[in-house]
Amino acid sequence: MRLMLCGDVVGRAGRDAVVAHLPRLRHELALDFVVVNGENAAHGFGITDRICAELYACGVDVITTGNHVWDRREIMAYIAGDPRLLRPINYPAAQPGRGFGIYRLADGRRVLVANAMARLFMDAIDDPFAAIDRLLGEHRLGDLAAILLDFHGEATSEKNSMGHFCDGRASAVIGTHSHVPTADYRILTKGTAYMTDIGMCGDYDSVIGMRKEGAIARFVTKLPGERLEVAEGEATLCAVVIETDDATGLARAVAPLRLGGKLAPAWPDFARAPAPAK
Ligand SMILES: [Fe+2]
Ligand SMILES: [Fe+2]
Repeated sequence: MRLMLCGDVVGRAGRDAVVAHLPRLRHELALDFVVVNGENAAHGFGITDRICAELYACGVDVITTGNHVWDRREIMAYIAGDPRLLRPINYPAAQPGRGFGIYRLADGRRVLVANAMARLFMDAIDDPFAAIDRLLGEHRLGDLAAILLDFHGEATSEKNSMGHFCDGRASAVIGTHSHVPTADYRILTKGTAYMTDIGMCGDYDSVIGMRKEGAIARFVTKLPGERLEVAEGEATLCAVVIETDDATGLARAVAPLRLGGKLAPAWPDFARAPAPAK
């Protein structure tokens, strides 16, 4: 199975990149399932029902989030009715929405997508390792064709640890939140694809997606500034493509994909060939 996960979609520039490229990418890369992190899709802060619809319409199957999930409060009422929109699994249980879902492809294969959030330099929420350990105890590769975890966090050590913690139990553990892509994509020793951070779908002529001037001023003046404004130049679409073995659910290949904007392009060479027989 071929899966793609796109990093945090930041504002209109990020949405435009996903909408412009995804229909063609789905076809060219023979993608079976596409997940995007949408926590910054609404002008950099949160997501709305209208944006969810826009992303689904262009070929997104599931939307993950993170610490910005509730920035647009109207999404609290919406999320309970949309099983394709996830929030971190280790947020308080009373919160609306869900932290994982099992999705059935047209050919019958089932994919589990989970969204968890790290704790170092982030909100003090429930232990993500315990939450994911429970989930992987209840849902296993073999019964499911693939298991994909979007682990949303700041510290590379915590994300790296989650990768190894899930090695052999998940198809892929992929980091989001930093908005900066890392070069450490690889398959871990027991077969789980891993990448510390995919980067964002956003304008890189910016400070992690926000206009440079306001972001710099916060560091220079150390005064509460004006609200950060999203950068609206051409976005780089940053994603990771994973190919899994349907029999084991483990990864056969993993590589980054970057298109457009300021970053050097990257293309997953393994995905040029037609998808292997199921
Ligand atoms: Fe983000
Ligand atoms: Fe985040």
